[in-house]
Amino acid sequence: MLAGGRGTRLRPLTHTSAKQLVPVANRPVLFYGLDAICEAGITDVGIVIGDTGNEVRAAVGDGSRFGLDVTYIPQQAPLGLAHCVLIAKDFLGDDDFIVYLGDNFLIGGISNLLQEFRADGYTAQLLLSKVAEPQLYGVAELGRDGRIIRLQEKPALPRSDLAIVGVYAFSAAIHEAVRAIEPSARGELEITDAVQWLIDQGHRVHSHIVTGYWKDTGRLQDILECNRILLEKVEADLAGVVAGRSEIDGRVVVHPDAVIEDSVLRGPIVIGAGSKVVRSYVGPFTSIADDCVIEDAEIEYSIVLGGSTIQGVPRIEYSLIGRDVEVTRAVHAPNAHRLMVGDHSKVQLRI
Ligand code: DAU
Repeated sequence: MLAGGRGTRLRPLTHTSAKQLVPVANRPVLFYGLDAICEAGITDVGIVIGDTGNEVRAAVGDGSRFGLDVTYIPQQAPLGLAHCVLIAKDFLGDDDFIVYLGDNFLIGGISNLLQEFRADGYTAQLLLSKVAEPQLYGVAELGRDGRIIRLQEKPALPRSDLAIVGVYAFSAAIHEAVRAIEPSARGELEITDAVQWLIDQGHRVHSHIVTGYWKDTGRLQDILECNRILLEKVEADLAGVVAGRSEIDGRVVVHPDAVIEDSVLRGPIVIGAGSKVVRSYVGPFTSIADDCVIEDAEIEYSIVLGGSTIQGVPRIEYSLIGRDVEVTRAVHAPNAHRLMVGDHSKVQLRI
């Protein structure tokens, strides 16, 4: 499980936090991957960690919560996905293994991938998915017989619309490949190049086109879409206190320790422990984490991380709000916006 790296496209959140821990439906993206690994019957997991390693360790612990036995593998710098395999060699030994990118979100699990890989004795197996912007991903070109002819990492002129999904199955032959390749133009040891090396050496590399939902959650629009997909499946659970003149429609999850007062909630939404929603509107596809205050405010299609306050602000939408953030109304003249915004933030004011 790869949980190091930089996360530049989710700055400023990722200046201080691991991108794999950004929550969707109030659970870190990484946790869904760990669930999928456990469901596939894998128990030993090495998690590659970088600068945000302590946060990942604190969130995942020894893995027992997920039914897993977790070993942490520190990576001194994000030198590439193949570099992760290189430094995990002692942990992996000569076993077959899965590489799961911690920021990838896949519905449907990985049991089928594993079954195919085991049954047919391939050296490597890739998952592919049709995407609209293949230049953002590793891209596979298939021959007429469906076999991979060529792989390219983020090509300017993609030869197909088949992106490489961030879940790979490998046999021990990949270790030779990751030692054989050179860093790419972006200075990383690319797993894409290592798999191409296997193909060039005549190894059997199989690919499988994923038809279910897959997302690399690296960008704001992707993380909001994952949040929507997960919330579409939640079951209503109004365990918290609903007081005053409140109106609740659709599938709404309110944690037992949360309080809703004089508010309109239109599901699907989730509201975490210790949060308060007072005289506010929370609209569809919104996840509010623990210990937040939403007061005299309106919000929809958004994710709010723990400890944040939104007060006296009309409609906020399509937003990702970090931890312990305050978004409040400026009550005194002049009639102006007052901002203290972190590096690489994006603020869109509707004026
Ligand atoms: O999401 C699928 C794509 O993932 C594939 O289509 C590409 O072929 C593959 O190279 C990869 O591209 P990204 O540019 O999205 O990879 P990213 O740098 O985001 O890293 C993926 C995960 O691995 C992320 O959770 C961070 C972690 N990582 C990354 C690097 C480079 C590490 O733990 N160590 C690293 O050195």
